[in-house]
Amino acid sequence: MVSRKQIHQKNANKTYLNTVTAYLKLAVLGFLVIIVFLVIPIKYSQAHFEAQEAVGQVYQSQEWDYLKSQTEEADIEAAQQRVDQIFSFYPSVKKVTYNRVLEQAHQKLVLEDQLNSLFVKTENNQDQNSHLILKEDLSQEELSIIKNGVEDLPHDSMRLEAERVLVEVENLLTRIERTQAGIEKLPAEIQVVEEINALSQQVVKFEEELSNLDNQAQIESLSRQLLEKTTLLSQELQEIVTEETAAAVDTELVFQSYLFSEQLDGTVADTRKLFSLTFDDGPNLEYTPEVLDILDKYQIKATFFLLGQQVENYPELAQEIVARGHLIGNHSYDHPDYETLTDEEILEDFTKTQDIIEEVTQIRPVIYRTPYGGGGGRVVRLLEGATSVIWNVDSEDWLSRNSQTIYEKVMDELQPKTLLLMHDSHEAVVPALEILIPVLKEEGYVFVDPLEIGYDFLFFE
Ligand code: NI
Repeated sequence: MVSRKQIHQKNANKTYLNTVTAYLKLAVLGFLVIIVFLVIPIKYSQAHFEAQEAVGQVYQSQEWDYLKSQTEEADIEAAQQRVDQIFSFYPSVKKVTYNRVLEQAHQKLVLEDQLNSLFVKTENNQDQNSHLILKEDLSQEELSIIKNGVEDLPHDSMRLEAERVLVEVENLLTRIERTQAGIEKLPAEIQVVEEINALSQQVVKFEEELSNLDNQAQIESLSRQLLEKTTLLSQELQEIVTEETAAAVDTELVFQSYLFSEQLDGTVADTRKLFSLTFDDGPNLEYTPEVLDILDKYQIKATFFLLGQQVENYPELAQEIVARGHLIGNHSYDHPDYETLTDEEILEDFTKTQDIIEEVTQIRPVIYRTPYGGGGGRVVRLLEGATSVIWNVDSEDWLSRNSQTIYEKVMDELQPKTLLLMHDSHEAVVPALEILIPVLKEEGYVFVDPLEIGYDFLFFE
C-alpha cells in the first residue's frame, strides 16, 4: 500500500520536474526567438547593406540607373565578387537582383562606349547633347546595332536618355544622307537657260540645310560638292545665255541662292537692277536715327561707313545700326585725307578705327571707304585684309543740301548697278530718301550690299 504521504511526495517531485522542464523549454524557445527574429535579420540586413554598397561602387545613385562616370569593367567585376562572397555565407534569393543590376552595368558600360563612339571628340563637347557632332563615317547599320543593344536594358532614365540621343542621331544622319544624295543628283550641265530656275530652288534648300547642320563634320565636303556643282552650272549658264535669253532667268529665284549669286553677280545672266545705298561719316545723333527709321519703313538694308570718333561718341547708335541688320564699314578715325598720310599713319588710323568699331559693335569691318575716296591704289595694297568700296553715283548731298536736287542728281546718273554715296550727316538726306526709295522700288531695283553689286572698281585713278 502506498501511504498518503508517499503519494504526496511523488506528486511534489513531479511538479518540480515539470516546472524545470517548462523553464528549459522556455529558455530554448527564447533563444530560438532571439536567433530567428534578431540575430539572423541583423546579419541578413547587414549582408544586404554591404551588397548594396558594393553595387553603389558602380552606380551613381540608389536608383541604379546611371553608372558613375569613372566606372570601368574592373569595378563591376570587383562588385560582383564582393556580392558572391557576401551571399556565400548568407544565401538569399535577393542575390539574383544584385546579379542582374551588375549584369546590366556591363551592358550599360558597353552602351556608353558605343554612344560616345558616335560623336567626334572635340575639346569642349562636355555638353554633348547641345552639340551633337557625328563622326564622319557613321552608318545607319552601326546605329541599329546600338539600338538593338538598348532593347535589353531596363526602362530607366538611362535608357530613356540613350533612346533620345539615338533618335536625335538618327534624324541628323538621315538629314545628312538625304542632303548628300540630293547634291549628288544635281545635274552638271544645262541645255536651256530656264533650267537654272528650278535648279536654284533646290540649291537654296541645300544651302539652308547645310547652314542648319553647320557644325557637322560632313559639312565641309558637302559644301565643297555643292560649290563644285553650282560653279559648273553657273559656267554652263554663262555659255548658253545671251542678252536676248537672259530675261528667262528668274533672277528673284536664282539670286536667292548665295552660291549662284556669288558666281552670277554682274554677269550677262544677271538682269537685276541693283542699288546699294551707302552712308558715310556717321553715326550722328541728328539724322542717323531718322535714316534708320526710313530704311526700316521700306525694309531696306544699307551700308554705313563709320568714323571711329563718332562711334566713340555715340556707341549706342553704332550698335543700333548693326542691330537693325545693316552692314558697317571703316571710314577712318576722324576723316583725314589718306592722300597726305604716310603708310604707317594710314595703317595706324585704319587699325585704331577697326578696334573701336569692333569693341563697340563686336564686328570687325571687312569693308572700308577712305575719306574723300582718296589714297588710290597705294591704300588698297596697304589695307589688303579688307575690301575697298567706292561709288559710281555721288548724291552730292553735302553740296546741294536740298532733297529735290539730290533726288534729281541720282535719277540723272542712275545705272543698272548703282552704288550711291550719301551722308547721314545732312538734314536733306532724310526727305531725299523718302522720295527716292519708292521710285527705285517702282523701277524694279533690288537693294543689295556693295559687294553684291558686281562693281569692282576699288579706287579712283
Ligand atoms: Ni566722308
